[in-house]
Amino acid sequence: MKKTIFITSIFILLSLLTPSLSSTPTCNKNDEKALFQIKKSLGNPYHLTSWKKNEDCCTWYCVKCDRTTGRINELTIFSGNITGQIPPEVGNLPYLKYLEFRKLTNLTGQIPSSISKLTHLTMLTLSWTDLSGPVPSFISQLKTLNYLDLSFNKLTGSIPPELATLPKLIEMDLSRNKLTGVIPESFGKLSKTFVALHLSHNQLTGHVPKSLNISTIDLARNQLTGDLSLIFGKNKAIERADFSRNGFQFDISKVVFPKSLTWLDLNHNKIYGSLPATLTGLHLQNFNVSYNKLCGKIPRGGELQKMELTSYFHNQCLCGSPMPACSKRSGLF
Ligand SMILES: *[C@@H]1O[C@H](CO)[C@@H](O)[C@H](O)[C@H]1NC(C)=O
Ligand SMILES: *[C@@H]1O[C@H](CO)[C@@H](O)[C@H](O)[C@H]1NC(C)=O
Ligand SMILES: *[C@@H]1O[C@H](CO)[C@@H](O)[C@H](O)[C@H]1NC(C)=O
Ligand SMILES: *[C@@H]1O[C@H](CO)[C@@H](O)[C@H](O)[C@H]1NC(C)=O
Repeated sequence: MKKTIFITSIFILLSLLTPSLSSTPTCNKNDEKALFQIKKSLGNPYHLTSWKKNEDCCTWYCVKCDRTTGRINELTIFSGNITGQIPPEVGNLPYLKYLEFRKLTNLTGQIPSSISKLTHLTMLTLSWTDLSGPVPSFISQLKTLNYLDLSFNKLTGSIPPELATLPKLIEMDLSRNKLTGVIPESFGKLSKTFVALHLSHNQLTGHVPKSLNISTIDLARNQLTGDLSLIFGKNKAIERADFSRNGFQFDISKVVFPKSLTWLDLNHNKIYGSLPATLTGLHLQNFNVSYNKLCGKIPRGGELQKMELTSYFHNQCLCGSPMPACSKRSGLF
């Protein structure tokens, strides 16, 4: 009898303990408060109906918690019917690592300065929205940032030179905005971690900093001018580059293309001279020099003859396979 009572009470005790043993820590109260402010600020949208009082906010839609601390570390609002501005209260989630507002065509206003308080951010994505105003220089205070994606918005003004000082940045995408001005000279001194820079589809002008040295670079569809020779060179990291549809003007025969180069688009510029023979030594997957002012025989070898004719057409007098043979009259055999 005694034994049965003992076992039963152990059983009851265990069943009482089990839920608290197996559950992760509940959401931090300050973070919950900030999330309710964010929800209210966005006009209590349908997208956030799972954000309810008396339910652990670690289980809510669009957020994630750190399992050990119960602090919110991810806020991802993607493709909802959200109208309004980015709530400044996002700055009250101090342990955020990922912050994302994406595919929200009715998200308007500027990027709020409270984001500068998020000193643990590793990824900031504000993309495919109707955000306007400048690319804020305070983003350079987010020293732990690895990925910055502000593409497909309506941002205006110039690129803040301070962004080049971010010590852990790997990739920056500011493409598809309305940015003007030059690529800051500071981008010639990016950190060693930096791999990819995307600035295409803007209205950037001026020259590209000569010491720029990264493996992936997309500057297509701007109004950039000047010489790209020094972006290439024996000791440069460049692997994939799109410089198409700009006003670049230089003699390509003098360029030293690094062995690492696999993907190059130079179409629609004012590049002149003949293609250097060193191009035949590259493992090119894509190569397009169409719509320039190039002349002379396409060097034979490597991948150059495997490219389509459209990679070479609309130049001054490029000839030889895959273009028509060089004519006797041109003196090019
Ligand atoms: C944007 O707002 C307009 C006007 O309120 C609304 O009709 C439309 O459905 C919204 N679109 C999206 C994708 O949120
Ligand atoms: C978005 O929300 C607005 C206002 O709540 C509503 O009028 C509109 O129909 C919604 N649009 C879509 C695409 O759900
Ligand atoms: C460019 O970057 C690569 C890889 O980080 C490095 O090995 C190379 O020395 C750099 N070249 C120049 C000219 O700074
Ligand atoms: C090269 O670029 C031109 C201009 O954009 C385009 O018409 C052509 O199809 C491209 N060729 C290849 C092989 O990508």
